[in-house]
Amino acid sequence: MSSKKVFIFDTTLRDGEQSAGVSFTLNQKLKIAEQLQALKVDVIEAGFPRTSPGDLEAVQRVSREIRGCTICALARCIKGDIETAWEGLKEAADPRIHVFINTSDIQIENQLKKTREQVLEQAIESIRFARKFVSNLEFSPMDATRSDPDFLCRIIEAAIENGATTINVPDSVGYAIPSEHGKMFRDIMERVPNAHKAVFSCHAHNDLGLASANALAAVQNGARQVEGAINGIGERAGNTALEEVVMTLKTHGEALNVFTDINTREFYRTSKLVERISGMPVQWNKAIVGKNSFRHGSGIHQDGILKKRETWEIIDPEEIGIPQGTQLVLGKLSGSHAFKDHIERLGFHLTEDQLKRAFDDFKHLADKKKQIDDRDLEAIVGQRTGEVFEPVWFLDHIHVASGTHAIATATIQMRNKEGNSFTDAATGDGPIDAICVAVNRVIGVNPSLIAYSVENVTEGIDAQGTVCVRIQDEQGKVYSAQAADTDVIVASVNAYLNAVNRMLIVHSKNRAREQTAPSTGTQDD
Ligand code: KIV
Ligand code: ZN
Repeated sequence: MSSKKVFIFDTTLRDGEQSAGVSFTLNQKLKIAEQLQALKVDVIEAGFPRTSPGDLEAVQRVSREIRGCTICALARCIKGDIETAWEGLKEAADPRIHVFINTSDIQIENQLKKTREQVLEQAIESIRFARKFVSNLEFSPMDATRSDPDFLCRIIEAAIENGATTINVPDSVGYAIPSEHGKMFRDIMERVPNAHKAVFSCHAHNDLGLASANALAAVQNGARQVEGAINGIGERAGNTALEEVVMTLKTHGEALNVFTDINTREFYRTSKLVERISGMPVQWNKAIVGKNSFRHGSGIHQDGILKKRETWEIIDPEEIGIPQGTQLVLGKLSGSHAFKDHIERLGFHLTEDQLKRAFDDFKHLADKKKQIDDRDLEAIVGQRTGEVFEPVWFLDHIHVASGTHAIATATIQMRNKEGNSFTDAATGDGPIDAICVAVNRVIGVNPSLIAYSVENVTEGIDAQGTVCVRIQDEQGKVYSAQAADTDVIVASVNAYLNAVNRMLIVHSKNRAREQTAPSTGTQDD
């Protein structure tokens, strides 16, 4: 029996951006989309254009610039949403509109305040309307796993009859367990008479930590598209982590009789890029892309690995694109050409300006640290690529004094976008507190620092430290960011400032959004 292709639908830019504390700028979206193209995903869901002018513009740019994959835009079952989605997709080589409507009674009655019949009618009308713009049309009955199975089959049949070519059956609240999830797919495909005319897709959320297992169960029961995000980012506990499902399908492809076209060697790079840009650190023991995924603590395991790698590893780390070895790569005397050459081999492509600043960072680091390896370069260059979100405020100088008999004091000089310089000082419970208060005083903001951690990039006393912070604004929204430096005080102020910059950008985007868009929690225009 010939092996079947499973299409990989990436929603990092749409559902991934719905993660609390994450907001991508246009440049960041393009950067991620370019990397997804290199990863060879089949579909990129580039955004939900009706939600903001920024989302529309991002979908337009991705549609214009990315080739080799389908570009998809999300829309409620509302004419205005569908028209705006098409506005975003017009220049795509292979555009897809993705319409969704709630189908569980709990959401139909309490959120939409409609009846099942009204939902069915609205879905049909929207699908017909969307087909005027595209032939590639996806329909999602939202909260499918908590929907009445008879109604679910009815609406799916109608969706296919009226032109939907992909049927995505989402576990929107992450409620399903694998056996039930697999059965749901099998039942739908058996019961819906025109099921063979569409590709069935799964979209699992990770509220119970079962998203990848549920996606696998869906594939085992006939789904031929898997939706998910890099590093599993997304609403609440996130989406299916694409790297997990793809590597599962690759590892067990023969037994499952399926394959994907993903260039898995790009996973590590994609994961790092999304981690940096989203400001959401990947947990150490995260499958496939976590820092510990290919590290062996036990002596017995290390012994086995040295004799034959396969004794304790089911995947060759090179298959994921994880850089091998930690050789000394560059030193104090290395020139900008060697630097550029090397970081390009690591997969970074910087603008002239970013390159200049990254090279300055490298020289600065080389003055303090004797051995610079790939991990150091990734940390400093990553900072420069991660900062493509056009900061609102920049750090010029920081001076911190603290100790057993001193009140921690931070003196700071910062510049705004317009180039105006401001200096202030503050005391705090400790140096980090003093830094945050000083930044807040200059900018005139007051978020709470809710998490702070430092992690060494490499081994040794002169190692750089990566500082990760999470802050919360007055509305309870969380923003994360990170920065690296051999001086953890400098890394701390940069990480905090990155988070504050993110917050300011989201606040200004929200203001723009409030002025233009209706609430996306309804299905009324
Ligand atoms: O989780 C969900 O149901 C969604 C839909 C829009 C597909 O993200
Ligand atoms: Zn979702």
